[in-house]
Amino acid sequence: MTPIFTVPVTLAERSYEITIRAGLLEKLGRELKQLGMKGKVAVVTDRQVARHYLRDVSQAITRHGLHPVPIILDPGERSKTLKTVESVLDILARDRFERSSLLLALGGGVVGDIAGFSASIYQRGMPYIQVPTTLVAQVDSSVGGKTGVDHRLGKNLIGSFYQPRAVWIDPLVLRTLPRREWVAGLAEVIKYGIIADDKFFLYLQRHMPDLLMQTPGVVATVIKRSCEIKAEVVSSDERESDRRRILNYGHTIGHALEALGGYRSMVHGEAVGTGLVQEADLACFQGLCSREVVEGIRRIVKEAGLSDQMPRWTPSKVWKAMLHDKKVSGGRVIGVWPSRIGAVRMGPLEKHVFDRWWAESQPT
Ligand SMILES: NC(=O)c1ccc[n+]([C@@H]2O[C@H](COP(=O)([O-])OP(=O)(O)OC[C@H]3O[C@@H](n4cnc5c(N)ncnc54)[C@H](O)[C@@H]3O)[C@@H](O)[C@H]2O)c1
Ligand SMILES: [Zn+2]
Repeated sequence: MTPIFTVPVTLAERSYEITIRAGLLEKLGRELKQLGMKGKVAVVTDRQVARHYLRDVSQAITRHGLHPVPIILDPGERSKTLKTVESVLDILARDRFERSSLLLALGGGVVGDIAGFSASIYQRGMPYIQVPTTLVAQVDSSVGGKTGVDHRLGKNLIGSFYQPRAVWIDPLVLRTLPRREWVAGLAEVIKYGIIADDKFFLYLQRHMPDLLMQTPGVVATVIKRSCEIKAEVVSSDERESDRRRILNYGHTIGHALEALGGYRSMVHGEAVGTGLVQEADLACFQGLCSREVVEGIRRIVKEAGLSDQMPRWTPSKVWKAMLHDKKVSGGRVIGVWPSRIGAVRMGPLEKHVFDRWWAESQPT
């Protein structure tokens, strides 16, 4: 039997718990009842996830005298728009959901971001619970309360900080996840080792074959440790004024690559995987870490099945895309640089440094 883990997210009166438990989905109704929920529950999900899990989840909810109202979205990043949020709000209003009613976000990061944002604005905020079903969502997007949608002029440009009442993680749902999405999630997991915990990094190095085979005990442990690190960082800086930015490691280049590919050629985690290696290389170039650190990161990224190589963009295109990221402040690119495995620091990146690095490091 796999263990049950709980991880606290400490945010004063907005504190909540992450529960990691194999088979949790079947027990959803009981958990809701224990929270004192009554009446209607909006279940926001996407078509793909609905195909696998909506029937079981609806039954689990109904069994405990609650009434699920499914809200099924088109899968994929293209759904992350204000228009979709409006369609969610339409159903909530039509079905006369109240401010005390509950919303469940059952799906990956796309569903979680849309559902969380909808919950944050419906009647100025209704409670919601994240039930993440991708590895990215289980270790990253469901924790921390960032919700929102894309705008045609930028990804995640519209949104709010709005914490869920709980995060319920059932690792068993990852069995149906497409291989590509699973591997993409490993990039975020590796990131946690690099930014905060060398022992965890070592654990990942040792257990990568088990992880790739989705050995249940290893998967649960990895999700737990990742959530602990994210929870710890978020608790210390809920609104990303400073420390929370360390979570952005690998994402300065990662986001640029994602954007340049039109959010189609690379999924988020794949772009982050390359970002982890290339940003370490940039740190090494600036004399901030050793070559050994870079090569250690490169090895694990490749072993996970992710690419360490920059796709064939010109440096000026990549720089421009980096400047476009909303985490840029005052027109300056602020990077997160590993000093060793388990520790990072933040610092600006000047264009001339980036250009010199590119000329020396990227194959022509
Ligand atoms: N809010 C945050 O802090 C935060 C952090 C990281 C990422 N994000 C956002 O998360 C999104 C990416 O999330 P994602 O990688 O989970 O992508 P996703 O939500 O698009 O899911 C990927 C695909 O997997 C399918 N899927 C989901 N669960 C499944 C399952 N168990 N079995 C089979 N198929 C399943 C989905 O239908 C989808 O087609 C991006 O929009 C990103 O901006 C947000
Ligand atoms: Zn990410």
